[in-house]
Amino acid sequence: MRLLHIDSSILGDGSVTRRLSAAIVADQRATHPGIEIDRLDLATDPLPHFAAPDLANGGAATASDPLERFLVADVVVLGAPMYNFTVPSQLKAWVDRILIVNRTFSYTADGPQGLAGGKRVFVATASGGYYGADSPFRAAEHVRSYLAAVFGFIGISDVSFVAAEGLQAGVEDRDDIVAAALAQVERIAA
Ligand SMILES: Cc1cc2nc3c(=O)[nH]c(=O)nc-3n(C[C@H](O)[C@H](O)[C@H](O)COP(=O)(O)O)c2cc1C
Repeated sequence: MRLLHIDSSILGDGSVTRRLSAAIVADQRATHPGIEIDRLDLATDPLPHFAAPDLANGGAATASDPLERFLVADVVVLGAPMYNFTVPSQLKAWVDRILIVNRTFSYTADGPQGLAGGKRVFVATASGGYYGADSPFRAAEHVRSYLAAVFGFIGISDVSFVAAEGLQAGVEDRDDIVAAALAQVERIAA
């Protein structure tokens, strides 16, 4: 069994999503002893923007490329902070390299079809504000909705989210928000 652990926060040790994704990975390690962990840190090892030469090269792959590393994973754990209402551009650059026609999805007479089903995905998100159903800013939420669409498009419906919201809203204590999110980790992994 293989797990791909991806982080994209630029905030290093102060990052909330890094803390949450590490907790999810620790939990998976405990549940699946011997699980093989592959690590991708998109902040310290950024991928270049997807560009014209990559289009021609879309299907070609080497063992070290992000698409191959994604395809062989049974479990993906993703740290996805909200930066300017959506995922960091470092993470978008990764998404651009895994949504590849005829590798992770295809176009059929019945519409697009996902080819990457069967994986389990855990996403740890964090935001300064609140974007839940009751929030006046809910229409600006493009982390969770975006990633659900991305993974759904390639056939992965088993996506669990852990969220630490309101970290900079001054309403709740930051440590309490993080503690509540860490408690969610145990629930989603069950
Ligand atoms: C560059 C940048 C942009 C941000 N943009 C938003 C935003 O649009 N909405 C929001 O609620 N919080 C925003 N925040 C706050 C982060 O979501 C918050 O700091 C969260 O902890 C980020 O996750 P991390 O700690 O794992 O990096 C932003 C933070 C940074 C550094």
